[in-house]
Amino acid sequence: MTKQTIFSGMQPSGKPHLGNYLGAIKNWASLQDEYNCIYCIVDLHSLTVRQNSAELRQNARNLLTLYIAAGLDAEKNIVYYQSHVPGHAQLAWILNCYTYMGELNRMTQFKEKSSKHAENINAGLFTYPVLMAADILLYQAGLVPVGDDQKQHLEICRDIAVRFNNIYGDTFTVPEAYIGKAGARIMSLQEPEKKMSKSDAGTENDLIYLLDEPKAVISKIKKAVTDSENQVRFAPEKPGIANLINIYCAVTKKTVPETEKEFENSGYGAFKTAVGECVAAELEPVRRRYEELTKDKAYIDSVIKNNAARANELAERTLKKVSKKVGLPLEI
Ligand code: TRP
Repeated sequence: MTKQTIFSGMQPSGKPHLGNYLGAIKNWASLQDEYNCIYCIVDLHSLTVRQNSAELRQNARNLLTLYIAAGLDAEKNIVYYQSHVPGHAQLAWILNCYTYMGELNRMTQFKEKSSKHAENINAGLFTYPVLMAADILLYQAGLVPVGDDQKQHLEICRDIAVRFNNIYGDTFTVPEAYIGKAGARIMSLQEPEKKMSKSDAGTENDLIYLLDEPKAVISKIKKAVTDSENQVRFAPEKPGIANLINIYCAVTKKTVPETEKEFENSGYGAFKTAVGECVAAELEPVRRRYEELTKDKAYIDSVIKNNAARANELAERTLKKVSKKVGLPLEI
């Protein structure tokens, strides 16, 4: 039986944090034998908001290096830059012509981002979901691990795929959300009602960066916002503690009741120390491996090159099929 393809993308804007890791990257390594996994660093998507060029380029490389440091095998998986595969932009253009303004207008992320970047509501921001659909459909991916905030984008991707297939006959695999060993949804340490996010971060203490030193990890968790009950209990009205419990469970693989029991007689101080220490211990080997990998420029360069070639080969297949269907001239 052929393996199913999993596709996911992550923007290289900003430094990767614990939310990216526990919510996504950490779980990806466990899928690499069972599926064909493709992890794209979606640098073209990042251009929808203004970036510092040098930083963007560096962040993309850091993210790719981090994937490998976190245990993604660069031969079993395809890890690459979106901009290295021209097929993404080509397919996105074609799909733009099969997507309605009305559909894009409904996207909540577009509404949010346009209010946040009122000075730069560009067309790319509007058609962002179409590029995302192209990312997925280009590889005939059957499964897409996405967080809640991307569900609507996956829905529109499915709608576009079905619409295209209805017009031209079976062309695209219609993808589904991958809900398996789903990653934890990690919230901001300072404002635990909000998702941990580099773009929404208020202060440095909101996020734990994957490359934070253990001391910084422990100190940020110590400063995390809690409540005055001093009882380690998972409850919606205690978002700070609930978040720390989630983090603890994601790292230790314990369940919520086990965790509540374990800290039944401890106050928040001891609990926070335990959470801080387990997160620091989890991240430390990743950080070390990352430091080593960054020294090996030739290796990272070869990963980038080889993986782009592998991705291009797959992308070309779909693009040829699509070009033929819509009536673009065939290669001579
Ligand atoms: N829009 C996604 C995000 O911001 C990133 C992304 C781009 C993506 N293309 C994708 C995720 C394809 C899954 C599949 O999180």
